[in-house]
Amino acid sequence: MKPWIKRSAIGALMLVALGAATLWAGAVAGEKKMRRLVDVQVAPIAVRDDAASIERGRYLFMSRGCTECHGVDGAGRTFIDDGKGMRVHAPNITLGPGSVVAGYGTDDWTRTIRHGVKPDGRPAIIMPSEDYARLTAADLAALVAYLRQMPPARGEPAEVRLPLPVKALYAAGMIRDAAEKIDHRLPPPAAVPDAVTTAHGAYVANACIGCHGAQLAGGKIPGAPPEWPAAANLTPGAGSAMARYADADAFAAMLRTGKRPDGSAVSPVMPFLALKELNDTDVRAIYLHLKSLPALATGE
Ligand code: HEC
Ligand code: HEC
Repeated sequence: MKPWIKRSAIGALMLVALGAATLWAGAVAGEKKMRRLVDVQVAPIAVRDDAASIERGRYLFMSRGCTECHGVDGAGRTFIDDGKGMRVHAPNITLGPGSVVAGYGTDDWTRTIRHGVKPDGRPAIIMPSEDYARLTAADLAALVAYLRQMPPARGEPAEVRLPLPVKALYAAGMIRDAAEKIDHRLPPPAAVPDAVTTAHGAYVANACIGCHGAQLAGGKIPGAPPEWPAAANLTPGAGSAMARYADADAFAAMLRTGKRPDGSAVSPVMPFLALKELNDTDVRAIYLHLKSLPALATGE
């Protein structure tokens, strides 16, 4: 071997080794971050088990995304499995075998759903609690009333298996968990009347920020498997997906069918199982809200 080939080969090997060591150190730091304790003050909620509360809770459970990961029966499911080291299984949140909520008191539900923090004080890594952090006290109480009375189903506890680079990005703060994104000091929001108004639309659209971003400007979803498309820009800015929806009917039809006005399919990464359950008032209010947003470029 010519000396310079040997030298560059050794150089390349050292670079690879250095890269691997950095990755490994990052992954170790990521695992440590997953085990950190998050201190939050839980504001108590008053859960009432009357039929109206349970029905409101059922609607929130069905329409706000919980079923995409935990299943319609709450038993949990594997919703990411790329066969290359990334696997995420949402746990059983009924009281059946494999339950993770068997010891839950009311504050534990609030801590998980509103703050993204488990009863042991450790953060949920994947669950998008930032979408639920701004639920009103009454809606959160209704959701908990529904969850507590779900028929016990057999399931498994959670599994969160992430590839080394994802853990390293998580350690570096490029990927953040819900507990990091949520402002835990904010008091629960005041209730807005259920009506076709931008204020109510903004309330419902909280369920979209986990993927479409806090400003709803879309862009690459941090930490998502590489094959997932970027989330669409929902503001009226350049490249806005909302330009395709001339009126609320067209928008509602897309949420119900998963198809754009031209008949093409929107990626199933969009949680249509949940979105098709949104009632007319909520859909029209979201539409008004999205159309009233300040125009931002995609991902801004
Ligand atoms: C994108 C998928 C996803 C969505 C949507 C989702 N969850 Fe989860 N949930 C998870 C995963 C994964 C875990 C395991 C914890 C973690 O994220 O590391 C979890 C954990 C939980 C836990 C147990 C936490 C513990 O270990 O004590 C509860 C309770 C829960 N979710 C309730 C809900 C409710 C209620 C909703 C809807 C309002 C919801 N989740 C929406 C994925 C999801
Ligand atoms: C789990 C992540 C996720 C959530 C939650 C989510 N979306 Fe999306 N959404 C996406 C992705 C990814 C795309 C891009 C799909 C594509 O390119 O085919 C998208 C695309 C869209 C589009 C564009 C459709 C088109 O014409 O191409 C609209 C509108 C939209 N989402 C609205 C919403 C609204 C409103 C909510 C909340 C009620 C929401 N999304 C919640 C991931 C999500």
